[in-house]
Amino acid sequence: MRRVVCPGSFDPVTNGHLDIISRAAQLYDEVVVAVMLNPNKTALFTAAERVELIAEATKKLDNVRVDQFEGLIVDFCRDNDISAIVKGLRAVSDFDYEMQMAQMNYSQAGVETLFMTTNPLYAFLSSSLVKEFARFGGDVSGLVPAPVLDQLNRRLSES
Ligand code: PNS
Repeated sequence: MRRVVCPGSFDPVTNGHLDIISRAAQLYDEVVVAVMLNPNKTALFTAAERVELIAEATKKLDNVRVDQFEGLIVDFCRDNDISAIVKGLRAVSDFDYEMQMAQMNYSQAGVETLFMTTNPLYAFLSSSLVKEFARFGGDVSGLVPAPVLDQLNRRLSES
């Protein structure tokens, strides 16, 4: 079974993430979307909420499952029999850090990283920008799946 992981914070998942996840799902037997739990980082959504939103957004993709992890992604890969990480690359600004992480993960644990070029439609997109735009009343309906839009508007109206 060729199983890969798409790791990230996904706070929240965007259409750019979903594009990478669905393209990876066409190439591999199983894609695990792994939500990183980072107690030091303030998130808009809890890990459980992020997992649920991704599960809802990927429910039509039979070979995608969603999980969460704490600690090193290479340990998650070992525990789940995953040999490669799939990441989207938006621009050269992503490249340096992604390259460093990929080399670290390969040199320390033999876990490969495969980069997919982001669909140009989503090249500018990030969870942070979506949150900022929405927080100040911007329309992000074309940038995130419908359930995320609902939850985002609800959460921001509470704060
Ligand atoms: O969506 P993000 O925040 O850009 O995702 C970054 C993520 C979670 C993929 C990356 O920070 C990661 O893999 N963190 C897990 C901790 C880890 O393994 N760190 C060592 C990397 S060499």
